[in-house]
Amino acid sequence: MATTQFRIIGGKPLHGQVRCEGAKNAALPIMAAALLASEPVHLQNVPQLTDIATQSKLLRRLGLAVSIERTCEKPLEMTLETMDAQPVVAPESCVRQMRASFCVLGPLLARRRKAVVPLPGGCRIGDRPVDLHWKGLAALGADLRLEHGCVVAEARRLTGATIELSGPRGPSVTGTANVMSAAVLARGVTILRDAALEPEIVDLGCFLTALGAKIEGLGTSTLRIEGVEQLGGARHRLIPDRIEAATLLLAAAITRGSATVLDVRPDHLQTVLEKLRAAGAAVDVGADRVSIAATGPVQPASVIAEPFPGLPTDVQAQWTALMSLADGTCTVQDLVFSGRFSHVAELNRLGACIACRDDIATINGVPRLEGTSVAASDLRASAALVLAGLAADGPTTVEHIHHLDRGYQRLDEKLRRLGAQIERIGLPVESAL
Ligand code: EPZ
Repeated sequence: MATTQFRIIGGKPLHGQVRCEGAKNAALPIMAAALLASEPVHLQNVPQLTDIATQSKLLRRLGLAVSIERTCEKPLEMTLETMDAQPVVAPESCVRQMRASFCVLGPLLARRRKAVVPLPGGCRIGDRPVDLHWKGLAALGADLRLEHGCVVAEARRLTGATIELSGPRGPSVTGTANVMSAAVLARGVTILRDAALEPEIVDLGCFLTALGAKIEGLGTSTLRIEGVEQLGGARHRLIPDRIEAATLLLAAAITRGSATVLDVRPDHLQTVLEKLRAAGAAVDVGADRVSIAATGPVQPASVIAEPFPGLPTDVQAQWTALMSLADGTCTVQDLVFSGRFSHVAELNRLGACIACRDDIATINGVPRLEGTSVAASDLRASAALVLAGLAADGPTTVEHIHHLDRGYQRLDEKLRRLGAQIERIGLPVESAL
């Protein structure tokens, strides 16, 4: 079956300015947490992504009315309201398609006392266990069992507890989302230790607080949650997508150009900006924008992908692409997902010289990349191949762009606005939304 492709003619430095969308990884758990609300929820700055469409479809199957207001040029606005609080079974088709759908587990359990959610699917980036989600909800007093590949969770009323939420690879982002979203309606106080610090979790906590939840410690690794009887409704504007912002800055860097990304939170990008400077780029920061100029040679800058505030694992593949053109050797290690190097083989087909061992990639920089056809198997690997194609001499075709549409809103249009020669071949993205 012909897949949607990007066709890129690389070698042109990008210049100009582009706007960043709302954060996918804030939108998905916040949409799931709308299950907790007893009044309508109104979200602003919603990115137009296939993952958002998937989550909307799932929530409609769970009895929510989900309506989207499309206003030209303005980001999407979304209203979610519970019309039927009976459904407790998340359809397999939705959850298998996107791991973040698993975030409905905690809210369903807390509000409807039962949840049946298939074990998640999503990007193939290493082992994706859910033991920390299970441990947290069990600590709140839920009875959990596995039936036909689904997690079945039941509880008359959850009870606050002190919970350690860290695993061998650190905190769990959606594990924290599930347990925090359940604890806000538990009887008594919950202390979450080793909670995830990611800005998207802070944004979820701010949303829950707007609904009437009582949460202290947001932005730290210890959360204190005092359960309440009921939550109301809220209006909430999603934070900017720091991963999209980093990807756009890296597109300017890898093409030796300059760009300004608008509508960002620079405080969510500290490590990325620090590493871009180490790689030889000039980076200037405003209140809600970041400008980069990268005209000199790429300096080798080793990174370790780790939980926030470290370099995000969701930027690791894109960083590896930039370092493939460095003037020297460096390493990229991923402490979050040890198997997240599917982009390396494809980058090497473009002429990169990268060797992987365990969770470390060693990159010997090359003077240039040569365009060819490449394919990726996950969202951020796809982004890395697009960046490499922008820098490669001659034409590059990136296959299976549906992976990219999950997490980037019309990336080709944004890159064309910066001067890239890139076109979408095949299904328009609207057909998936
Ligand atoms: C979230 O995934 C993000 N997705 C991912 O972004 C991101 O890569 C990841 O966090 C890490 O930052 C969303 O927010 C929707 P984890 P999540 O649970 O929550 C282990 C993208 O590209 N672990 O924080 O699924 C796990 O194996 C996506 O936008 C357990 O051991 O990741 C991993 O090694 C890809 N037990 C580490 O923790 C558990 O119960 C972090 O996983 C859960 C996780």
